[in-house]
Amino acid sequence: MQCLVQSGSLLACNVDLLAITVLQRKENGVSRAQLQRGDGGVELDRALGGKLSEVITREELTGELGTARLVETNGQCKARHVVLLGGGTVQSCTTNTWRRLGVTLARVAEQVKARSAAGLMQTESVQRLKPAVRAQALIEGLMLGQYRFDTFKPEDERKPLRFTSFIAVSKGNRNALEAAFTRGALVAGAICQARDWINLPSNVCTPQYLAEQAQLVAKRGHLKCQILDSDQITAERMHLLKAVNQGSARPPIFIHVSYTPKGKAKRRVALVGKGVTFDTGGYDLKTSKHMGDMKNDMGGAAVVLATMQVMAALQPAIAIDAYIPSTENMVDALGYKSSDILTARSGKTIEIVNTDAEGRLVLADAIDYAVEREPELLIDLATLTGGVQYALGEIYTAVLGTAQSMINKLLAASTVAGEAMWQLPLEEEYLAGFKGGPAQLRNCGKSGASTITGALFLGQFVREVPWIHLDIAESAWSDEDRPLTSRGGTGAPLRTLCEFLLSL
Ligand code: BES
Ligand code: MN
Ligand code: ZN
Repeated sequence: MQCLVQSGSLLACNVDLLAITVLQRKENGVSRAQLQRGDGGVELDRALGGKLSEVITREELTGELGTARLVETNGQCKARHVVLLGGGTVQSCTTNTWRRLGVTLARVAEQVKARSAAGLMQTESVQRLKPAVRAQALIEGLMLGQYRFDTFKPEDERKPLRFTSFIAVSKGNRNALEAAFTRGALVAGAICQARDWINLPSNVCTPQYLAEQAQLVAKRGHLKCQILDSDQITAERMHLLKAVNQGSARPPIFIHVSYTPKGKAKRRVALVGKGVTFDTGGYDLKTSKHMGDMKNDMGGAAVVLATMQVMAALQPAIAIDAYIPSTENMVDALGYKSSDILTARSGKTIEIVNTDAEGRLVLADAIDYAVEREPELLIDLATLTGGVQYALGEIYTAVLGTAQSMINKLLAASTVAGEAMWQLPLEEEYLAGFKGGPAQLRNCGKSGASTITGALFLGQFVREVPWIHLDIAESAWSDEDRPLTSRGGTGAPLRTLCEFLLSL
């Protein structure tokens, strides 16, 4: 998507489609759409001889968020169509309002086969959201609204991307808007990339494939990339990763991608992403109901890798290392079994009580490897526990960890990014559930709070490093179409992670 910032009038724009927002105003309990002066709606209405207000009155448009009404211009201005985008009430405006406006605009553009659209960005803040923040959210929406996963469809069933240019008419700071558009396009592009990786089936998206993608990302962004193969993983004593891999015909892979800033790094951050390309559960086999979507078990890896792509382009002044342990979790004569006792890379002995609790095993070795390189903050992202669904439902990322001030910063970033996150307590008392077996730790706790106990297990490997754990078991994947995401991989919480890293 190409975004240009232009001064002058909206009417003079040489585009197919003009976007105008109508806000929802309640009068005597009735919702009414209202044209705005700030985005040129009132002016355009006048130029079209009152046609817009006539449609609003005649059809009793409400201005509800997500609605759209197309109006033909019949040659009264350069654009073929005007679209009235419902923006909801001004009080309810958040960054996601602009993402949704973007998504709706992209869909309407597709419907009328428009190649270009324009809108007027008012220079004042709206509900404390500056123009640049709104611009970034808008382009994210424009691009996310066009996402589809149709790699496996024949050519004639794939919809070409026609809508490729957006013009923002603005009297304000052009540089700030252009920078916001660049950032939004990078972030949205990375989200679409992460979604593609997640949506690819596990016969294509194998550990080897992830390694190749990491090399590609590294090459394009001039990042360092180190790939450890099965023998090197053994030499690194990552016995837990090896054990999970035992049942798989495909070898394990360990990926390490690093970004180093040109000047002195203000901070060193480590990101660890779970890269289980398919999780059958192992001998604690999942039922078909739960196994169906388990190609998404590398959602953490996808988001971490796509985030590195954004960082390579935006060059923040912090050093970032990304670590991805990758394998399948399969059933096989050689597969690991309950009651097996393994030695983690850190030296801790682990008794397997459930082969389906494999994520924490591969992450434990990856975290130990990352921690040895002494980061100032470690963030892991993992589709770790189905329990998130019971704690927080389908859209939330669960946040746990020890770095409370950084967690606060991350939660603030999630508000700007418009991704749902909620912190859960890292209740140490539940650690008791991991003790009592023949080894130092069992791989499963006793308590029902599996999201908390899963995090507690990982916490046994972070040593003194300030740490944040993001359980994305629910947020990485959507069973249905939602306003900002279609069914399948969501790319969450990439926006939050980028926003957070860029704020450090
Ligand atoms: N990959 C799953 C978690 C998951 C569940 C992700 C649903 C996405 C949707 C993970 O490896 C797993 O199986 N976790 C177990 C842990 C349990 C055995 C302690 C779970 O949550 O049931
Ligand atoms: Mn599992
Ligand atoms: Zn898993």
